[in-house]
Amino acid sequence: MNPAPNLILVGPMGAGKTCIGRRLAERFGLEFVDADQAIVDDTGSSIPAIFDNLGEPGFRVHEKRVLGALLQRGGQLISTGGGAVLDADNRRLIRQRGFVVYLRVSVASQLARLQRDKTRPLLQRDDREQVLHEMAAFRDPLYREVADLTIDTDLYTPAEATAHAVVRL
Ligand code: S3P
Repeated sequence: MNPAPNLILVGPMGAGKTCIGRRLAERFGLEFVDADQAIVDDTGSSIPAIFDNLGEPGFRVHEKRVLGALLQRGGQLISTGGGAVLDADNRRLIRQRGFVVYLRVSVASQLARLQRDKTRPLLQRDDREQVLHEMAAFRDPLYREVADLTIDTDLYTPAEATAHAVVRL
């Protein structure tokens, strides 16, 4: 028997996946699962430590393995890492295994929200803005490819974005 479907959030760093995800999970009685936290729990290493030791390619291997295992289960709200959609197998599984909400955010909002963040290895550099623009250009079509619903988080507080998702789900 197929397990119950999941609600899956995709979108870039700083889109509010964790904050909005927790609210949506509570609203729908789903177990909240943060894919990055699952990687930390599985490996016993922090995300920055994994990047330091194995680089981004090594992190992506762990991400694919852990996310793949999570997606086999059902009844969860899964908040995926911003780069999970880079892998074609991940995209296929994400689409198959749940209803997918893309939380969109502008680079300006990302910069404001992640100003003091030290937990995202890909942003620990001086040209953050440039990096975020390049990521957005490359990844936006990938998020759209998997999404059943897109919500622009620039326009709303987390509570409002959650309410918007609830009425459209
Ligand atoms: C990444 C996003 C992060 C985390 C890692 C890489 C990315 O997750 O997986 O730092 O490539 O955009 P969040 O989107 O939850 O911050």
